[in-house]
Amino acid sequence: MTTLPTAAGHVVSLRPAESAPMWRAGDEVLRATDLARSDPDELTAAATAVAAAIPSALVRAVHSYRSRAEHGDVLLIRGTLPETDFGANPSASAAPLAGHGVQHAALQLLGIMMLLGEPFNFRTLYEGKLVQHVVPAPNMEFTQTSESSSGMLDWHVEDGFSPDRCDYFGLLCLRGSEAAVTRYAAARDVVLDERTRRILGEPRFEMAPDSAHVLDDDSPCRTPVLSGAPHAPEICYDDHYLTPLDGEAAEALRELRTQLDAVHQGHVLRTGDLLVVDNRRVVHSRTPFTARHDGTDRWLLRTMVCASLPRFRARGRRII
Ligand SMILES: [Fe+2]
Repeated sequence: MTTLPTAAGHVVSLRPAESAPMWRAGDEVLRATDLARSDPDELTAAATAVAAAIPSALVRAVHSYRSRAEHGDVLLIRGTLPETDFGANPSASAAPLAGHGVQHAALQLLGIMMLLGEPFNFRTLYEGKLVQHVVPAPNMEFTQTSESSSGMLDWHVEDGFSPDRCDYFGLLCLRGSEAAVTRYAAARDVVLDERTRRILGEPRFEMAPDSAHVLDDDSPCRTPVLSGAPHAPEICYDDHYLTPLDGEAAEALRELRTQLDAVHQGHVLRTGDLLVVDNRRVVHSRTPFTARHDGTDRWLLRTMVCASLPRFRARGRRII
């Protein structure tokens, strides 16, 4: 395994011999279980077999990332999947995990992400699926959702309207698109004057739920944009769903937006890349790409993680 800090953040590359034990552990699971029939708890329990086969060097790298993140708040793990045909991509985020290849990939994703906490989802998002497909959907090309393609998916955090938003999410690439750059910018990298930082730290903003959620009540919540310790700032931002409540707040938000563009980094995901993003400290976006809608489109699997066991236990269930 090679690890190196680069402009893309912290990158870990697994050799085939290192990822093979995880794949074999997945094989064992899939001989006995069809994950398409598993509920979220069963799916998570099945992925512990893969977690137990993670090479120790990767365990150390993930631990270093979650405890110090000295090389950045995004971790790229390459080489998690062998060369295999994953078949035609589904055209909907909530499609079941159908087929051996995609079930295998889901186990790898969950197994590694469990090093950071407990996988979960909102029941209002993509039918509460624990592992969602990130695929372009017909007629969604220009939306601000993960089902978009031709339009820019602008700066946002996942589910910024909710205090229960994930601490981390993982994107595992089954099939990439060279045009689609996943971009990210960390709160600790933005440069702001003291006054702007203070305004962004006050609850002078409202965040509304994004359109991917199916909600009875979509009223916005008051929030600061920046929070947390000065040495480890957190960010709650969205280009479209965050509204400043006064003129000073609007000006501060514009300055922050300029900084996001100035400090961002990016990566084109390729097969076997797992991009782990700290959703409390990083905003992300994605550049446009062309969807063919013929089953050969860009295809990622996504899962979200709650890193706090007390918070996870307090919720009482995996799909909240
Ligand atoms: Fe997103």
